[in-house]
Amino acid sequence: MRWDSAAIFGASGGIGAAMAMALAGEGTQVFAGSCSGYVPEHANIEPFRFNLTDEKSIEVAVEPWKDAPPELVVVASGVLTLPDGTGPERSFRHVEPAAMAQMFALNTVGPALIAKHVLPLFPRDRASTFAALSARVGSISDNRIGGWHSYRASKAALNMLIRNYAIEMGRTHKQAIIAGLHPGTVDTALSEPFQKNLPDGQLTDADQAASNLIGVLAGLSPETSGDVFDWKGERVPE
Ligand SMILES: NC(=O)c1ccc[n+]([C@@H]2O[C@H](COP(=O)([O-])OP(=O)(O)OC[C@H]3O[C@@H](n4cnc5c(N)ncnc54)[C@H](OP(=O)(O)O)[C@@H]3O)[C@@H](O)[C@H]2O)c1
Repeated sequence: MRWDSAAIFGASGGIGAAMAMALAGEGTQVFAGSCSGYVPEHANIEPFRFNLTDEKSIEVAVEPWKDAPPELVVVASGVLTLPDGTGPERSFRHVEPAAMAQMFALNTVGPALIAKHVLPLFPRDRASTFAALSARVGSISDNRIGGWHSYRASKAALNMLIRNYAIEMGRTHKQAIIAGLHPGTVDTALSEPFQKNLPDGQLTDADQAASNLIGVLAGLSPETSGDVFDWKGERVPE
């Protein structure tokens, strides 16, 4: 067991559920958060509900952790296709303000609000980790093919917040780690519509992705707080 306790926001998703199960299987007490309520069942898993677009629900979810916050908090939620079926834009001609705002609400503002309520609970004298699932496509310098404007921009903005929060926390919490994670291309509902043209071997199953990410999280240190890492533990450029 690498952490006594952990919280996964988005434990109903492909990657989040696999991470919750993997951690629970190691003996970690896991708080498994979802909007839908469909989180995996395990003796070490305690479900909770939250909605990324409802700050109060996040505040209420973390309230019971005040005296003993989880040592590891992972935001594993996120969208590439919006709930109404609107897919990622291939051209700037397709950008719609409401869709773009919703993408940011779910991929950027939601994780920012979770951090807002979780980070103040972290103790100053012990190691704690806050990680959010980002994506390599949020890297500006690594962007060679463009497209997916709102998704890419929402993840780039998330990466900026991760760096900002790491700087702010580093002033008072020397052992805190804030990180972004790129899971690779993982076989989940999110990637399913976009898997057709993938080269062989590029699609990872969710259990493998969870194991990769947990390994990366276990190897992080406060010196690299604020960075985004891929599933191999390599830093994703800004
Ligand atoms: N799969 C990939 O290839 C891939 C690649 C790069 C990055 N990522 C990132 O990895 C993360 C997880 O992706 P995934 O593939 O596991 O996706 P997924 O299976 O579609 O899961 C999405 C998760 O987001 C949650 N969610 C969506 N709207 C929500 C809301 N309003 N409030 C609370 N939770 C909400 C869902 O909860 P409910 O079902 O309970 O609503 C679900 O837990 C995302 O941030 C994604 O961008 C994935």
